[in-house]
Amino acid sequence: MTSYTDLNITPRTLLGPGPSDVAPRVLRALAHPPVGHLDPQFVRLMDEVQNLLRYVFETENQMTIPISGTGSAGMEAAVANFIEPGDPVLVCINGYFGMRIAEMVGRYGGDLVTIEKPWGEVFSPEEVDAALRRRPAKVVAMVHGETSTGAMQPLDGMAEVVHRQGGLLLVDTVASLGGVPVGVDRHDLDIVYSGSQKALSAPPGLAPLTVSPRAMESLKRRESKVTSWYLDLTLLGTYWGSSRMYHHTAPINMNYALREALRLAYEEGLEACFARHRANAEFLWSSLEAMGMQMHVEPELRLPTLTTVRVPDGVDEAAVRSRLLSEFNLEIAGGLGALKGKVWRVGLMGYSSQHRNVTLLLGALREVLGG
Ligand SMILES: Cc1ncc(COP(=O)(O)O)c(C=O)c1O
Repeated sequence: MTSYTDLNITPRTLLGPGPSDVAPRVLRALAHPPVGHLDPQFVRLMDEVQNLLRYVFETENQMTIPISGTGSAGMEAAVANFIEPGDPVLVCINGYFGMRIAEMVGRYGGDLVTIEKPWGEVFSPEEVDAALRRRPAKVVAMVHGETSTGAMQPLDGMAEVVHRQGGLLLVDTVASLGGVPVGVDRHDLDIVYSGSQKALSAPPGLAPLTVSPRAMESLKRRESKVTSWYLDLTLLGTYWGSSRMYHHTAPINMNYALREALRLAYEEGLEACFARHRANAEFLWSSLEAMGMQMHVEPELRLPTLTTVRVPDGVDEAAVRSRLLSEFNLEIAGGLGALKGKVWRVGLMGYSSQHRNVTLLLGALREVLGG
């Protein structure tokens, strides 16, 4: 008979593009016993999670909920609910996750047009406006923090050009929410999703989503039912709204964890949280530059939560990552797609964004690259 040992996971320091380290308080919350999904204690927790999500999204949107599933479930909920077969959609692609949105739009029957930029660059409102003048779109989609490139898409002025011709602005904040300002209401964004496991620092498994009243109106005007039953916001709204009607069993313990992770962000305060992420990222950038390394993205466009560092000539990037993991229990990632083999991706997200983690990585890199 095969014997199975007790689970024995060696803790790592997670400095990749996610998941990030989870604070002990969040792990303790996760270990509470599950209760029923309509237990009054859980119903109270649902309200708290929604309010705390509104705090990190900086929004008053009524429809603000954690979708059950990872960031991709948030992406799929955003696409499935707001795009009907034949709807014109514009997707801005400057990295891997823009490509994934475009793929989903195609699967849900959207009439897709894309504009593209080299990986590491971003779009201006004028470029989006020009594309919309060529062909208007019901939904315009873009990625705020492109985890594949380390570039941060500025959001100022974007909604204005999209709304001017009646469209909705859909933004992926999987790698940015909680680490850099997203400001859903300030930027007048319509459909915004994220993931629990990056700058929010809960384990993977929930995808926060918020939807503007403008987009909810468009959902009401749909001619066909939402193709995905599981992600249909009109059904999910009956559970997360006042009628509390069963739809699917909420991942109870994941919601405990998300509540605690959001409470940590609330206690620290969003501004302090953003300042910490920026300070640790700047410390990383300047220290790596002092070691002779180059960042892939120009300084004004860099995403504080995820840095792409060019692999120095003659260095075996995979061997470096493997030594960091085996000798220092430290995880960073390699490049994706167009940047495969060319960069390392270093995440400083949520609980992982600590000065001592940067110091640890710098010391380890010096040792590994030095000999
Ligand atoms: C920008 C972005 N969008 C979407 C996703 C997909 O999220 P998940 O892997 O949690 O499904 C990721 C994951 O890395 C991401 O970085």
